[in-house]
Amino acid sequence: MRILMIGDVVGLSGQKTLLEYLPKLKRAHHPDLIVVNGENAADGRGITRPIAREFYGSGVDCITLGNHTWDKREIFDFIDGEERMVRPANYPEGTPGQGYVHLKFAGGELVVINLMGRSFLSTLDCPFREADAILKKLKGNPPVLVDFHAETTSEKLALAWYLDGRVSAVVGTHTHIQTADERILPQGTAYLTDVGMVGPYDGVLGMDKELVIKKFLTQLPVRFEVAKGRNQLNAVLIDLNSATGKATGIKRLRLDDDQPWFE
Ligand SMILES: [Fe+2]
Ligand SMILES: [Fe+2]
Repeated sequence: MRILMIGDVVGLSGQKTLLEYLPKLKRAHHPDLIVVNGENAADGRGITRPIAREFYGSGVDCITLGNHTWDKREIFDFIDGEERMVRPANYPEGTPGQGYVHLKFAGGELVVINLMGRSFLSTLDCPFREADAILKKLKGNPPVLVDFHAETTSEKLALAWYLDGRVSAVVGTHTHIQTADERILPQGTAYLTDVGMVGPYDGVLGMDKELVIKKFLTQLPVRFEVAKGRNQLNAVLIDLNSATGKATGIKRLRLDDDQPWFE
């Protein structure tokens, strides 16, 4: 079984880049399942129902989220009805939406769990213990993909070691910069600290660079806007043994004007 996990889609240009490259990625890599982080899809902050519909319509099987989950107020109107959308599972009990989903499809099944780190982010419930609690509830030992939406490499790598052999893969999102540390841990869990983003290539994490520079120079409040111009797409392919759930391969994908399309 092959999973294509695509990192944080930023703004309209991120959406367009995703829709442009999905058919090519499908043709080249034949994923059984496509998971996309959509927390920045709506203008850099949050996600709307039409955007989610568009993603599903283009072949996305599951949308994960993060600290920007709630930025578009309308999320509260539809997240409870979204069967294939997951927000961080370690929000307090009673939070709208779901923290994991058990996907079943022709070629098998996959549980997707979204968790959020606590270093330099909101102090949610413990993501390590939340992962334990979810894994305890799962029946039949299905393959599990964890999207760990976190700031620090240490928290991400620590969770991966904590879950080694108990989940198929732990991949990071949120920093918007792809890391080059993909590996399979000794007990069979694939790991990548951050998948990277989809959208503007010449900004700062997808935002207009002049505004971000101004913020650093003045230390005054600046409203960031999604950058314009060239785009990038960052993703990762994870191969699993469907019977055991163990990872057999992990490969980063990076597309931009410096690393153009490859087949
Ligand atoms: Fe993000
Ligand atoms: Fe984030």
